[in-house]
Formats: sequence, C-alpha cells, structure tokens
Amino acid sequence: MFKKATKSQIKIRLAVSGASGSGKTYSALAIAQHLGDNIALIDSERGSASRYADRFMFNTCELNDHHPARYIEAIKAAESMNFDVIIIDSLSHAWFSELELAGGRFDGWKNVRPLERKLIDAMIGSSSHIIATMRSKTEWIMEEYTAKDGKTKQSPKKIGTAPIQSSGIEYEFDLAGELDYNHILTISKSRCPELSDKTFLNPGKEIADTLKAWIGQPQQPPTIVSGLQTITEPQAKRLWAIAKNELQLSESDVRSVLAGFQLEKTTDIPVQKYDAVIQSMRDYGDKF
Ligand SMILES: Nc1ncnc2c1ncn2[C@@H]1O[C@H](COP(=O)(O)OP(=O)(O)OP(=O)(O)O)[C@@H](O)[C@H]1O
Ligand SMILES: [Mg+2]
Repeated sequence: MFKKATKSQIKIRLAVSGASGSGKTYSALAIAQHLGDNIALIDSERGSASRYADRFMFNTCELNDHHPARYIEAIKAAESMNFDVIIIDSLSHAWFSELELAGGRFDGWKNVRPLERKLIDAMIGSSSHIIATMRSKTEWIMEEYTAKDGKTKQSPKKIGTAPIQSSGIEYEFDLAGELDYNHILTISKSRCPELSDKTFLNPGKEIADTLKAWIGQPQQPPTIVSGLQTITEPQAKRLWAIAKNELQLSESDVRSVLAGFQLEKTTDIPVQKYDAVIQSMRDYGDKF
C-alpha cells in the first residue's frame, strides 16, 4: 500500500508575483531556461512575452479569452507536446475572468470556485514544471531619506503589494516570491529549505539549479558533437511530437525535411537550426 517516497518525480510549481515592470515575464523565462530545454509560455498579456524572443527560446500561445477552462486547455496542450516547463503569464487574468463570472454576487462564487479549483488542479497535477506569474497591486508609499543637507526628507516610492489573485493561492505552490522594482525576488514561501527567505537579484540560473538539486534532477551537460552543440534528447522528442501529433507527418516525411538540411537523424540537428527545422516541417506539412 505504501512505497518509499522519492523526489525524483516532483515537478516544480513556482509563483512569481510583482507589479508591472518588476520582471515577472523576464525572470520566469530566465529561470525556466535552466529548468528544462523546451518552454511553453501561455500569454494572456497580448503577446508581450514575445519581446523576449531574441533572448530566450520558447514557444508561445496567446490567450484572448481568459476563462479558467481556456487556461486548462492550453496547459493540457503544452503537456501533450512534452514541454518541460510551462509558464503561465499571467494567472491574474484568470482571476479577473473569475471575478467577472461571479458577477459580484456571493452566490456567483458557487459556480466559479469549482472552475478555479480545476485550474489549480491542472497546475499542481501537471507533468511539466509550472511557473505562474501574478500581477501585484501597486501602491505609493512615502519613504524617508537623508538629504545632502543632513535633513530628513520624504520621497514617493512605488511598491507592489498583495498578488491579484484569490487569497491563499501561494499555498498551492512549492515556491512563491515577490519581485520589486529593482528586479529583486524575495522568497515568501518555500518547500525547498535552501531557498527559504532568500532574495535574488535578477533571478535566473541560481534558483533553477537549486530547485533542480532539490528535486534530484541531474544537471546534464549539453551534447557536443565535433565542436557543434546539437539539440538535446527532450528537444528531439518534442520535434517528433510536433511532427506526428500536430502535423501528422510520417517518419519518412521528417527524414525528407532533414535531408534538406543535410542531416540524417534528429539528434544531429544543431541547436541553432532547431527552429528552422521545425518551420520547415510546418511548411512541408502545409504543402503535402
Ligand atoms: N531576472 C532578470 N534579470 C535581468 N533583467 C531583468 C530580470 N527581470 C526583469 N529584468 C529587466 O526588467 C525589464 C522588465 O521586466 P518584465 O517585462 O519581465 O516585467 P513584468 O513584471 O513582466 O512587467 P508587466 O507586468 O508589464 O508584464 C526587463 O526588460 C529586463 O530588462
Ligand atoms: Mg510581463
């Protein structure tokens, strides 16, 4: 009935909140790129994440309808395509949609709470790592400082306060942190003891590596073939998943596409050519 508990199957659930411009999208991508090879970003912010396409390699899906069910569909679609990490940017839009569906009536929540629960279950039950961003309410506070003349003066400072989300949402995540305007992430909740109460300037690799060590995920060196870095095994797997499930291509179709790049096997694809091969597969799929 019982079996030994191990951490190897654990998937990370990370919540990043912050006011506009604090670094939610950038930090989510910077952490994600060290957690896995394939990143899916569910964008409810009108494609705003795409402005980081030159810095990070990720696939995006724009959500115009923010009903929790649309988020769940996007999460499931990303899982079926074997993405290692799913970024939800941002979860606050699902919350806005829930508020609208409840219509400000107390009994309205009777129908909306189960929708919200389903979305939370889809995130915590996901077979991919999940990073969810949440907008924070912004407030101005007066901060005291000592001026050059030695006098104490006050200046206004913008701060992010509570996440725009149902209260207690952080309990659902392994790790929750709040970004400030200097892009400093303060960990407010952590099931990973090494990260408890820590702060990180420009969060990225360090957090990802600590989380990977915590769940016991090996940190694989990239494959180098005669000085050229080739795509990783999960990337090759994802390419096959796109070819077969999304584009309905056969193995020989994929080989024809590869031949166009003077390649025989998907594992020989140089990292720099990965996107071009996928695009070429899509073009091939459209033609035939
Ligand atoms: N982890 C980080 N490392 C380095 N620079 C960062 C980091 N986070 C944020 N920045 C800087 O801050 C800028 C704004 O970040 P970002 O777009 O992620 O903010 P945001 O919180 O998502 O804003 P919005 O709510 O408007 O979408 C980035 O363009 C980048 O220059
Ligand atoms: Mg953003």
